[in-house]
Amino acid sequence: MLKIRTAEHASASTEVPALVLITRRATFAAAHVLRHEGWTEAENRRVFGACSGDHGHNYVLEVTVGGVPEPGTGMVVNLKDLDHAMREAVIAKVDHKHLNRDVDFLAGVIPTAENLALAFWRELEPRLPGGSLERVRLVESDNNSVEVRR
Ligand code: NI
Repeated sequence: MLKIRTAEHASASTEVPALVLITRRATFAAAHVLRHEGWTEAENRRVFGACSGDHGHNYVLEVTVGGVPEPGTGMVVNLKDLDHAMREAVIAKVDHKHLNRDVDFLAGVIPTAENLALAFWRELEPRLPGGSLERVRLVESDNNSVEVRR
């Protein structure tokens, strides 16, 4: 097991365990369209392809939290609480919604998978029930996924 020595705690305990990462998954379905409002139809079509028209995805959101397991529970974070935070901060606001017009925290954002993952990170981080946010992964389709890391 990897051990990290810290000078700060040298007198009490010279070793702390490495970071443990734990991931919770949730799914949602949503519609979006990728368009730049300042561009012509042809330009949007050229850059965004088929995604320049209305369509939807069955998204998978994976949220990874890091920390050291609490001795009492053996948990970095209670997955029930993490799931609740994900639902409250993100899933309840995007599931069965149109991402271009129904979601307050996405106003003015082109809802690419990249922008969605960044926005979800910002919504989730202050609501985490414990640990530190280390990774947000958003799977948009069998062929596309994005990842935001600390
Ligand atoms: Ni799309």
